[in-house]
Parts: sequence; C-alpha cells; structure tokens
Amino acid sequence: MKSLLKTPLYLIELMTSAKSFKDNPVIGSMTLNRCGLHVIRILLSHFIMRIRMLMLSGSISAEDRRQYFQQGYIVKENYLSASEFASLEKESRAFDGEIREARQGDTLTHRAALSPDVLSRYPMMQSVLFSKTFQKLARFTSGHLRDPLYYLEEIKNQYSEGGNDPQKMFHHDTFHPSMKCWFFIDDVEENSGAFTFIPQSHKLDWKRIKWEYKMSLVAQDANNHMHARGSTRYTDEDLVELGLPAPYAFTVKKNTLVLVNVFGIHRRGDSIGKSTRLALWGDSRTNPFLPFPGFGGEFVNKLQYYFLSLFRKRADESAAKRGVRSPWTVISNDKK
Ligand SMILES: [Fe+2]
Repeated sequence: MKSLLKTPLYLIELMTSAKSFKDNPVIGSMTLNRCGLHVIRILLSHFIMRIRMLMLSGSISAEDRRQYFQQGYIVKENYLSASEFASLEKESRAFDGEIREARQGDTLTHRAALSPDVLSRYPMMQSVLFSKTFQKLARFTSGHLRDPLYYLEEIKNQYSEGGNDPQKMFHHDTFHPSMKCWFFIDDVEENSGAFTFIPQSHKLDWKRIKWEYKMSLVAQDANNHMHARGSTRYTDEDLVELGLPAPYAFTVKKNTLVLVNVFGIHRRGDSIGKSTRLALWGDSRTNPFLPFPGFGGEFVNKLQYYFLSLFRKRADESAAKRGVRSPWTVISNDKK
C-alpha cells in the first residue's frame, strides 16, 4: 500500500538522477527493464549530457575537449605557478574549519565543505577554484553552469580497523555522465591509493549497452547494497567481457588538476601500508535529463552549501536518535 502511494514519486524520479534499483521499484522493475527502461534512461541521459557539454565547450581547447570525450578525463600538470601553489598548500595545511569523517572499510575520508563563507577565510583556494580557467573546465565537464560542490579532502588509507574499502572495487558512480575533480596537494604514488580509471569506459558501445541491459534485470536483488543502489560494481569477469583498455592509475605530482567523467569505471587504488593524499575535491552531479545547462552564479552556489549543511545536520540528528555514528561525523581538528 505504502509503495502504491509512492508510485507518482517513483515515476517522477525516472526523469532525475535517481539510480537505486533497490529503493525505487520502477527503476528496479525486471519487467520494465526487460522492455529496456534502464537502457533508455542511459541513452537519453548520455545524449542530453553530450549536447549540454558541447554547449559549454566554446572556450575549451580542442585538445581538452577531445581528451575528455575520447578518454573520459583531463589532466593538467603544473597547473599553478610555484608561488601560487606554495600559497595554496600553506592555506590547505593550516585549515581549521569544520571537518567531517567517513569510514569505509579500512579507509578514512576527511572532508571540509568549501562554502563561500569558509572560502572567504582562504583567499588562495577561492581564487583557484573560481578562476575563469577552472570554472570553464568545471562547467564543460559537468555539462552545467552550477559550480561543483568543493571540499578540502584527505584520503587516509588503512587508518581504520574496518575490512575492505568498497571504493576499491571497480564501479561507476552514476548511469549518466557526471564529473569529479581533484587538484592534488600531495604527490600520489601508485601504492598509496591512487585514483584508478579505465580509459574510454565512459563510452557507450554495443558491448556496454548489452552489459547494462543484463545487469539491470538482476541488480535489484544484488547482495552488494551499493550495486543494488545503482553504484554499479564490476567484477574481473565483467571487465574481460567489456574488453576495455587496462586501468590507468593517476600517479601524479602535487599541483596537478584531474577532471573525470565518473560514469567511467574507476576505483580507489590499493595502498601498501598507511598512506594519505590531500586534494581540493569537486563533485558535480546534476539532473541529466535537463535539456539545458541549468543555472549558476553566487546565489545558486550559496544555496547548494545551505542544503548540504541541512542534509548533514539531519543525518547527524537521525544517527544520534538511533545511537549510531553519523555517516559523516564532525571530528575535532586535532584528529585530522
Ligand atoms: Fe566512485
């Protein structure tokens, strides 16, 4: 009965970035997916997102555009001058705002949301993230005028007692193109959890469409809850079936900017012993069915951090009521 009352909501969600096969019985329906629902959502969203990216590609170099469309990522080494980078590094390492921690397996992720209020105290971070060059790249790769949500992020491999980190299994984040970016403040070594991406895995070819179709028929009942919720996981056999190029680990020097389409298949790399990497990190996930690149500007940017803060506070209250740890717990600065 409850599910029946929610049906209009489930139907509306079909035209959003909603992706959970488990939580939305329409998205997870074997009958509808047999008729091609999941594949239609993929094809339509990729078509619209490509048009949106092209609409925002006017000021992007032909080389960056080609790299993003062909390989699924853009890399900019030595992005800032030495003095600019030194100033940004100093600000980042002295950060003393609110930091939240997530535990996934044996990995700790520390993130500080860089809202306009926070950035007003960190002028170098602000000038880098909101420079014309950075904004143009972020808007093109996001296919949207809204700035990504930015954070100062530190990944701490093997700093927790948990088991396997679920981010270390190959997966895609969304069924449609969406963007994540890193401006690395630390060097990243191969065995220190380097972000690892399968080049060209963001492309839709016949093999991938067939694979997505088969996957959509059974995803609702998958044991892996992330897979069932649409953060699709790939086994070694799946990767062989897809016949994709070898994975590429982003072992980069500090002062490198990386922008990635996370419909592409990726994972957090393995770490030998404890390791950390500090970066400015951006995440842009927008409604892929919106036929134009949305709205941006300062007000929209402020608003998205307001909602993020509200969402985090609600999650804190809900966790406190249940006597469990909030998924993103505020930690004191001396634990960072
Ligand atoms: Fe991911």
